[in-house]
Amino acid sequence: MQTKRWKIDSSQEINLSIITEAINFLRQGEVVAFPTETVYGLGADAKTEEAVRKIFRAKGRPADNPLIAHVSTKKMLESLVLEKPSYVDDLIKTFSPGPLTYVLKSNGSCAKSVTAGLPTVAVRMPNHPIALALIDHFNGPIAAPSANTSGRPSPVTAEHVYRDLAGKIPGIIDAGPTGVGVESTVIDCTGDIPIILRPGAITEEEIASVVGDVHPSPKEQTRSDKYKHYKPEIPLWLVGLSDKEIERLIKEQESKGNRIGLLGRDDFVRRFKGEDSFSLGEDLQEIAKNLYAGFRYFDKETVDLVLCEAFPKEGLGKTIMNRIEQAASKTIE
Ligand code: TXA
Ligand code: MG
Repeated sequence: MQTKRWKIDSSQEINLSIITEAINFLRQGEVVAFPTETVYGLGADAKTEEAVRKIFRAKGRPADNPLIAHVSTKKMLESLVLEKPSYVDDLIKTFSPGPLTYVLKSNGSCAKSVTAGLPTVAVRMPNHPIALALIDHFNGPIAAPSANTSGRPSPVTAEHVYRDLAGKIPGIIDAGPTGVGVESTVIDCTGDIPIILRPGAITEEEIASVVGDVHPSPKEQTRSDKYKHYKPEIPLWLVGLSDKEIERLIKEQESKGNRIGLLGRDDFVRRFKGEDSFSLGEDLQEIAKNLYAGFRYFDKETVDLVLCEAFPKEGLGKTIMNRIEQAASKTIE
């Protein structure tokens, strides 16, 4: 299969002929990759079982891991669920469109594979003009996981999507790098108090400031936890060590013939000497935005082992550490 790449200049008015072409694929039951504000998604008509199955096939995704239904309006969200507690209205007012995904009781209008047979459905209104235009013109929910091969870091550029899925999907809408860089926060809203199932771009503190009370997940709780995630090609070690200990570790590994890559803030990659490095920037927002590009940077195999800096688990730092911990083959503290 040929994979088309439609380039859209985000600074210009949206090119509707591209949106129309992409929608034609969706109407024929095909999948299309598109940008959201977090990461690129791989979309299909959420109401057509055969179309949704193509998402699972292209990604190599286990069938028991449910997808997020993407909507462009609150009305469309409501058309997929049985009921929603009143705090969800407050959350929608504050965070939607945006990187927050609500798990609610499903009314069964999505195809079975979207929810992997669960009684709940995950719904999100992405804050990206292309994603919103696509859903609006399609005039229905679009089911979409991140547009990577299952187990790999999520794609934050169309190039990442292309590298994972070229030949397996008919098209990618390329609107440049996404802004947020880490995925949406997934919260279970079926009870009186929302529960964070996956930490993401909206922090626990931000959610608590709206609803008063939110339960952090006691441990990872999404359906996908038993599968590997975010894995780079080269082994990555998460190092929460002193400078001296890191220097010692680098020496020890180099003496074994391992070339060392460094992944961390500007200051971290400058402080130590390795074979290659990737700087994630300075503040947490920048680090989140650059993280997956950092995971993928070393795929070119210039090094044998990547050492990644540890960050304080506060605010967005919690999400960043959640992803690094999953990417890491080893954590040394
Ligand atoms: O930012 C994002 O959320 C991106 C963009 C494309 O929107 N999407 C994304 O989708 O990260 P995905 O499929 O890679 O992750 C969705 C997560 C998975 O961990 C899945 O298990 C969980 O949401 N999920 C989906 N439906 C669920 C449900 N009904 N109950 C519990 N967890 C659910
Ligand atoms: Mg994913």
